[in-house]
Amino acid sequence: MSNNLFLFEDLSKDLDKISQAESLTILANLEQELLGKSSKVALAREALKQVEPNERPELGKRLNFVRNQLQNGLDQRRKVLVEGERQKKLQEEKIDLGEILTSPQRGHIHLIAQTQQSLEDVFIGMGYTVEEGPEVETEWYNFEALNIPPSHPARDAQDSLYVKLGKPGSTLLRTHTSPVQIRVMQNNSLPIYSVMPGRVYRRDTPDARHTPAFHQIEGLVVDKDISFSDLAGTIETFTSAYFGPAIKARLRPAFFPFTEPSAEFDITCTICEGSGCRTCSGVGWVELGGCGMIDPAVFASVGIDSEQWSGFAFGFGIDRCAQMKHGIDDMRVLLDNDIRFLSQF
Ligand code: DAH
Repeated sequence: MSNNLFLFEDLSKDLDKISQAESLTILANLEQELLGKSSKVALAREALKQVEPNERPELGKRLNFVRNQLQNGLDQRRKVLVEGERQKKLQEEKIDLGEILTSPQRGHIHLIAQTQQSLEDVFIGMGYTVEEGPEVETEWYNFEALNIPPSHPARDAQDSLYVKLGKPGSTLLRTHTSPVQIRVMQNNSLPIYSVMPGRVYRRDTPDARHTPAFHQIEGLVVDKDISFSDLAGTIETFTSAYFGPAIKARLRPAFFPFTEPSAEFDITCTICEGSGCRTCSGVGWVELGGCGMIDPAVFASVGIDSEQWSGFAFGFGIDRCAQMKHGIDDMRVLLDNDIRFLSQF
């Protein structure tokens, strides 16, 4: 039988071809050609079975040498090509950080946070401290201590977002900032002059005037001989300091379980300056929040003697203030994070 099959005189040419293969596809084709089923190596391995037993070790050794040379060549070239493709991909996907650095886009404080800070400033100027409370509250702080009875609609899961924690129905995302009043009264000595801003949550379908997560700022004053006229004066002072002297505030009788008497307060609609428009439904006034004299039941829940102390509280929407101050007709844009809108402020 011819031993030509075992000569492999093309080996160095084949190795050159391998080292010059320019892509993984070309390399895969070469591998098929040189080591695949119908390659010379495969044929030789078949033929080895027919060779005289005394020649077999020598020819077998040669065959193995050739196969290993080819296989090593292929493996090395593959490594080089894979690395090359990886580099190419990295290069293509590279983000040019230099480009960003040469024209920096400076961020700024979100309109809601700016509004919150300006509101805080107005009250700090009036001698108030700024306090905070948790966004996840117990039912006791959010409702019970505020004299909100179990039958109150706000306690319904339809209106409030309850959290799976502790006893079912015992923990919720606070529906207003009023529970912080309770915490402030528990943790501070009297008198108290504080505002408490923060995010609150309601089960609401978003529309032009409502979003399910929004912001309120609560106010609390507890001192000797505080009367309703102190409350009215405070609301008036705050609205003209924040919105300007052209904007008036008015109080309308209302009911809240935690204040008695209670009122809702409105300001002149800033969009139409009181003449009536779509945003204020044609009435010229926009509701900002609620207020009232602290109910003795609330004082009782924190152990303050309502014979000696009196006080008022108020709570209103920070988002609504931003809307009124900047003439924003749809509240939903405040949550959209659209830089074209936000960068105006
Ligand atoms: N917590 C009330 C609400 O979210 C607003 C409010 C009304 C707060 C009267 C008060 C208050 O402190 O005295 O609708």
